[in-house]
Parts: sequence; C-alpha cells; structure tokens
Amino acid sequence: MRILIHDNYEKLSNWVAYYVTHKINSAKPTAENPYVLGLPTGSSPIGTYKALIKLYKEGKVSFKNVVTFNMDEYVGIPEDHPESYHYFMWDNLFSHVDIPKENINILNGNASDLEKECHDYEERIKKAGGIDLFLGGIGPDGHIAFNEPGSSLNSKTRIKTLTYDTILANSRFFDNDINKVPKTALTVGVGTVMSAKQVLIIINGYKKARALQKVVEEGVNHMWTVSMLQLHEHGMICCDDESTMEMKVGTVKYFKDIEKKALSRFPKI
Ligand code: GLP
Repeated sequence: MRILIHDNYEKLSNWVAYYVTHKINSAKPTAENPYVLGLPTGSSPIGTYKALIKLYKEGKVSFKNVVTFNMDEYVGIPEDHPESYHYFMWDNLFSHVDIPKENINILNGNASDLEKECHDYEERIKKAGGIDLFLGGIGPDGHIAFNEPGSSLNSKTRIKTLTYDTILANSRFFDNDINKVPKTALTVGVGTVMSAKQVLIIINGYKKARALQKVVEEGVNHMWTVSMLQLHEHGMICCDDESTMEMKVGTVKYFKDIEKKALSRFPKI
C-alpha cells in the first residue's frame, strides 16, 4: 500500500486531481472503451472535485468517455434533497464537467425493491468491465463508503444500517439534528471497492488521525473496514500532515522518504 503524505489539504486535493487526470488521459478512453471511476461523497473529496473542474475548464481533462459509479446513497430521501448524494455529485462535480448523464451511476435509495437495486448495481459494474480507479474517503471510525465497523470485508452492494457515530457525524449536514439523518443507506461493499483495479483513499484532518493510524500501523480488521486496503494490489492513501498525528514519527518519516519523488511534483497530465 502506498501512503502519500501531503503538506496540506490543498496540495493533497490538487495532487489527486492530477493523478485522476493522468489515469484518464493515459487510458485514452473511447465511448466503446470508457474509463470507469468509482466516486465518493463527503467533505474529503470536495477539494479534488474543485481541482478536477478547474483542469476540465483548462481543457486538460474530459469526462466524455468516463463512466462513474458512486459509492453510496441514503435510503428514503428525494434525489433533489440537498443532502442526498445525487444532489451532492451534481452540485460538486457532474454539472460542471462534460460527463454524459447516461454515464453516471448512483444507487437509487428510493427504489421499490432495494435488494434488487443493489444486486443490479453490481451487475452494472461488471458490465462496465469493472472499476478502473475507485476514489474513497473514510469516516472517523475507518469506515469506507457506508461499510460500518464489523462489515464483512468481502461484502458487496447492499442495504446497511448506519451506526450512531456516523449518524452523529453526518448530522452536521442535517441542521445538527440526528433525527433528520436517514438511518439506512445503500452502499457498495468492501469487496466491491477491493475489486477495483486501483483504490485511492483521501484522508485529511485531525478527526481521521486515529483511523489512519489503525489502517497503516495495525492489521486488517473488520472494525476498521478501510484496513482491507492492505490486501489490495494497488492501494494508495493520499493524506495530509494533520491526519498523521497518531502515527509513529518513524512511520511518517518512512513514507515521506520513500514517496519523496512522487510528492515533489504533480503526476504528468
Ligand atoms: C460518509 C460517507 C463516506 C465518507 C464519510 C466521510 O459516511 N458514506 O463515503 O467517506 O462520510 O465523510 P467526510 O469526507 O465528510 O469526512
């Protein structure tokens, strides 16, 4: 697993945006053979999305032949609710770039048969040829997508009940009222994310320091579902300095040293 420790959130976000652009451009995607991206919501990827929009406006990247699959969606809130993940994605990325609407896949939390929706989502991913690069964030408890502590590390897309911690963390988006936060969500599984050819997790801020320490310095454990990344062939964590607070000085120095070259410049686009 590669760990890239960036000086701050801005540098981290720009670096990830360049990396995604580099991957899309090097794949030379076509309508028949598109580049398939997995995408997260949350505050962590916002800087990356802003930087990607800038790169798009500068003509450095196009999403015309990119197909996307989002990680998750709440159950039971309308798509046009400002806190739905549909709304988030249109607001923060899709409406600003040239991605065709039909290339966008987001779980439907209002489907009449939620289990079928989850099953079909996995099929859609397969039909698209699998995900080339899955971007993700984590919750303070190390969850990925909505795979809360104790989730099967082989799990696939399904309905999940959110933990109190997650409901509390996400209540900041619902007038700080936990009663307004949906209690269930549809989410890709840990196994779904791990099936991607490459996984890049964005981790920033002190709030995530404990989770980052667990993931990097301890073993694979279902209580910190993102730790499964240790078993991925091409797993990468892009974090900021602040989030490394709980790691050993030696660990931080080690990763800064071996990634010195990668950190010193943006990926080629
Ligand atoms: C939610 C989402 C996750 C996201 C997490 C962290 O739980 N389901 O995909 O990673 O929030 O969000 P933030 O980036 O705002 O800290």
